[in-house]
Amino acid sequence: MIIAPRIRGFICLTAHPQGCEQNVVNQINYVKSKGAIAGPKRVLVIGASTGFGLASRITSAFGSDASTIGVYFEKPPAPGKTASPGWYNTAAFEAKAQEAGLYAKSINGDAFSDEIKQKTLDLIKADLGQIDLVIYSLASPRRTHPKTGVVYNSVLKPIGQGFTNKTVDFHTGVVTDISIQPANEEEIENTVAVMGGEDWGFWIEDLKAAGLLAEGATTVAYSYIGPSVTEAVYRKGTIGRAKDDLEATAFHITEKLKDLNGKAYVSVNKALVTQASSAIPVIPLYISLLYKVMKAKGTHEGCIEQIQRLFQDRLYTGAAIPTDEKGRIRVDDLEMDAATQAEVAELWAGISTESLPELGDLAGYKHDFLNLFGFDVAGVDYEAETNEMVEVPGLV
Ligand code: NAI
Ligand code: NA
Repeated sequence: MIIAPRIRGFICLTAHPQGCEQNVVNQINYVKSKGAIAGPKRVLVIGASTGFGLASRITSAFGSDASTIGVYFEKPPAPGKTASPGWYNTAAFEAKAQEAGLYAKSINGDAFSDEIKQKTLDLIKADLGQIDLVIYSLASPRRTHPKTGVVYNSVLKPIGQGFTNKTVDFHTGVVTDISIQPANEEEIENTVAVMGGEDWGFWIEDLKAAGLLAEGATTVAYSYIGPSVTEAVYRKGTIGRAKDDLEATAFHITEKLKDLNGKAYVSVNKALVTQASSAIPVIPLYISLLYKVMKAKGTHEGCIEQIQRLFQDRLYTGAAIPTDEKGRIRVDDLEMDAATQAEVAELWAGISTESLPELGDLAGYKHDFLNLFGFDVAGVDYEAETNEMVEVPGLV
């Protein structure tokens, strides 16, 4: 079939196999260009098919020759219907990894469930024995609790008081004010249940109980802080409560890993266009201004640059891992640079539908959004017939 984007709000219903493959190849080439990392050899990535998780898997495999197991939740293709992009990303990654002689297998299903955890434990036991690094990179709007069956839905709302600020419809470029009512207690709890640290803790407990964590095992989950313009809806809102919980969980996990000399970290990453972030109000407008400033300064990074740097310059330098006063690894340093933030704040004050094309990088935002689904990728022939029925080579 000939595959074109079919966009509905924050998602695209189609994905392009060759575009997704090319994105993966570009990321692999980037990691290789940065040289070898004295990193982990056996890596489990939970949320491995897109965004920061995919970048973590690619960096592990092509930076330090790691065997990788990926867990993700993606829609397989059906005749005449494309798969979701993470399916095609994984197919491309596993083909390239296996070509390079690297072990790469994956499990498609609900990582919050006990069933998928057990399936993953069984695979590790059978194939790798133990794991050196566990990356936890899930982004999901809901979670079915494995012990109680309760379904939690997350919300993106401020806490305590309502909030009004600018936002953009990134498809049309129209900037409007958005007002969001504050969350109630139940909504806060639900969001923490979905995006907080409980599930990360469950994974590590299960892996440890089964004897599948190696001596000195490390686990890393991803967080975000961001600037004052997004604070009400992000860091001081419901999702921020979940991130507080995730960050606190790192300390609890580290306690539990003491006898293995293991350690849990949270890495605070940069704001980037992913499927998860494009659904958050205000953030896409902030990102389009941030991109403009960081590209002009030459400090812009995507997921792969962020994670390659996390591995090479933070986690695996051979020296102590640098953290902030709250124990967090920071690779959002270039985003949070004072001069960068001052420029973004100044642009923010003057932003409108009319000024956005000049002041912001809306084109860069749209390009990255299409890229998530394998569209607008250089070197791909979108007029050509393409086979949507792609298999994932290492799917268990
Ligand atoms: P993403 O949407 O690109 O990736 C989410 C991953 O989770 C995918 O692999 C997806 O298949 C998987 N997933 C979702 N629900 C699942 C389920 N029930 N079972 C198994 N797999 C499931 O998201 P992104 O942006 O890479 O987010 C990853 C982490 O990074 C999140 O914790 C996010 O908050 C954090 N982060 C994101 C930033 C951004 O600007 N995008 C900035 C800083 C941190
Ligand atoms: Na991810």
